[in-house]
Amino acid sequence: MSTPDIGIDLGTANIVMTYGKKGVVLSEPSVIAYNTSTQRILAVGQEAYQMIGKTPAYIEVVHPMADGVISDDLLTQCMLREFLQKVCGSQLVKPRIIICVPAFITELEKRAVADCVMAAGCRKAYLIDEPIAAMLGAGINIGRAKGHMVVDIGGGTTDVAIVSMNGIVTSHSIKIAGNRIDKAIQKYMMNRYKLLVGEQTAEQVKKTLTNLYDPRDDVTMIVKGRSVMRGLPDAVEINEMELFDAMEDEVFAIMEGIKKVLEETPPELVGDIYENGILLTGGGSLLGGLRELIHRTLNVNCVLAKDAVHCVAKGTGLAFQKINNLLDGFEGVTVYKYQ
Ligand SMILES: Nc1ncnc2c1ncn2[C@@H]1O[C@H](COP(=O)(O)OP(=O)(O)OP(=O)(O)O)[C@@H](O)[C@H]1O
Ligand SMILES: [Mg+2]
Repeated sequence: MSTPDIGIDLGTANIVMTYGKKGVVLSEPSVIAYNTSTQRILAVGQEAYQMIGKTPAYIEVVHPMADGVISDDLLTQCMLREFLQKVCGSQLVKPRIIICVPAFITELEKRAVADCVMAAGCRKAYLIDEPIAAMLGAGINIGRAKGHMVVDIGGGTTDVAIVSMNGIVTSHSIKIAGNRIDKAIQKYMMNRYKLLVGEQTAEQVKKTLTNLYDPRDDVTMIVKGRSVMRGLPDAVEINEMELFDAMEDEVFAIMEGIKKVLEETPPELVGDIYENGILLTGGGSLLGGLRELIHRTLNVNCVLAKDAVHCVAKGTGLAFQKINNLLDGFEGVTVYKYQ
């Protein structure tokens, strides 16, 4: 019987899975809903995501991942088990799994990830550093003595890394990414218009109206929420400039994070990066005008990865072809090394 190989990108906002040669087969929010009195799992993924903010007291909807790491072991395990079942069906043979981990996490946190996938039901677990997976996913040859830079802007963290000769040369992570931008939008709407808007509304505004390069005041959208003054539903029109103001601090922090890594990188490699450009991955890399803004601010070209949200997961799946270079997640824990 053929044994399924599964690649997983377990993110703060989304979980993406690949299955054998099929590529990406699952991409859902990393959310789980359960009954607080019976502890029964009610829904995971998209179904659970739609329950956010709409449940009675006995149902809790949780993001079991925070800032790129597991914040609730048991719920992450339950969520993974549900998703694995969805992907594998009722297969008797447990899959081999490669799961990517952020470059910055501790050995202990890596072990927690490996333990979690093992407990969720797999035959063998391997870990791979996320920046390496991103590069593999984008089809970049990282085996040469050439510097490549990746900026992965997710929901919880922005991870910046320089990779050369299959290894990470410099990396930096900041806990400012999509979620913090959503919160900043909510805060702006509250301060400026006394309008209480939900998480999902703020995210929608961000995806639709963001223009970080040349925001205009005549491009607008209607934002719905609840007026704090009157306690009733209300709607206001905001424009690109206002939205830019709302998220400026967060975007500036991301820029600083990228700059910091460039400053710490050996000059030879910086030369390569000016030549190759920066690879942008993760959902946050789709922010309108981000590429142009990076180019204007840091004077480096950017390449948006094809299928940016799934790029890391794709690379994780492709890593099976290099399995002999991966160390066992349970033993040494660290990760894809060139032999
Ligand atoms: N078109 C878009 N424009 C702006 N932001 C977007 C867009 N599409 C998705 N996002 C944002 O991308 C984020 C999710 O990205 P992604 O799935 O890469 O995160 P993740 O891998 O789960 O998180 P992390 O890597 O931090 O653990 C969310 O904050 C979402 O709002
Ligand atoms: Mg991610």
